[in-house]
Amino acid sequence: MTPDLSTELAGIPLRNPVLLASGTAGYGTEMLPFVQLEQLGGLVAKSLTLEPRTGNPPPRIAETPAGMLNAISLENVGVDAFLADKLPALPPHATLIASCFGTEPGLYARVCERLDAADGLAGIEINASCPHVKSGGIEFGQDPASLSELIRACRPATELPLLVKLSPNVTSIAEMARVCEGEGADGICLINAVQALMVDPETRRPVLANGLGGLSGPAILPIALRMVYQAAQAVSLPICGIGGIRSAADAVAFLLCGATAIQVGTANYANPSAAVEIRDGLADYCRRHGIAAVSELIGALRV
Ligand SMILES: Cc1cc2nc3c(=O)[nH]c(=O)nc-3n(C[C@H](O)[C@H](O)[C@H](O)COP(=O)(O)O)c2cc1C
Repeated sequence: MTPDLSTELAGIPLRNPVLLASGTAGYGTEMLPFVQLEQLGGLVAKSLTLEPRTGNPPPRIAETPAGMLNAISLENVGVDAFLADKLPALPPHATLIASCFGTEPGLYARVCERLDAADGLAGIEINASCPHVKSGGIEFGQDPASLSELIRACRPATELPLLVKLSPNVTSIAEMARVCEGEGADGICLINAVQALMVDPETRRPVLANGLGGLSGPAILPIALRMVYQAAQAVSLPICGIGGIRSAADAVAFLLCGATAIQVGTANYANPSAAVEIRDGLADYCRRHGIAAVSELIGALRV
């Protein structure tokens, strides 16, 4: 039996539920020695701003028990260079979702407009959740009124499927998911990194130059599962689950909690082929359990 791995996220047909998470796979070309992007569900490229951005000074990543801390601060080439140089270099049959970021809603909207006019994109993910950018990201992701304003600015700027990437650094993820649904988003992605701090006792300083960073990797998986589950209970929007996924078993857990697709992030650093292995592992899981289509797992958690 060859299980049907296809799924759909916010109107985007996917060959399988496994995507690469924004910021952990560059603009896609960096992954080509390891992964045939056409074999995956898709790629979410590094978040783009209207102008190029240099990001924070080092040290800006550090290893933690069961994860990593980063405060890259959205270093990127800018939307125009992405469209001119990066997008054309990607395989034509890969499913590509662009991610956009700005320090105010109008700037996000202008990035969305630029992306909307380009050929070859399946959708746009709004990064409303960067945990370590002082102006922008975290404010939009933590305050329902700001999130609402942000989506209201971006929604008219594109006809592409619009996904909103949510922050875990909130009291009620259900409330933030409802805001997305109310403002006409097509889907939600969660979670971004968890705001965190590592301290070096010898220097008595934070390990990262920025002080705070975002924690990702297996350490955050149970938090992410809980939030995907709660969001799925609160809204009928499709959900892309993210957070610490490094095996097919992890991916299945997210699907059971209500995700229709998943993204692989930090695991790419340890094993750039992780996403392909997860895809193959999903097929094995379906075979072992007599499941004809992976979509049967979505929301099928036994409680
Ligand atoms: C080094 C690094 C850079 C990241 N950059 C972005 C980014 O540009 N935009 C974004 O939406 N998320 C970014 N993220 C967050 C990831 O996409 C993902 O949401 C988070 O790491 C949790 O998933 P994981 O535990 O599988 O890594 C970044 C994460 C890491 C580790």
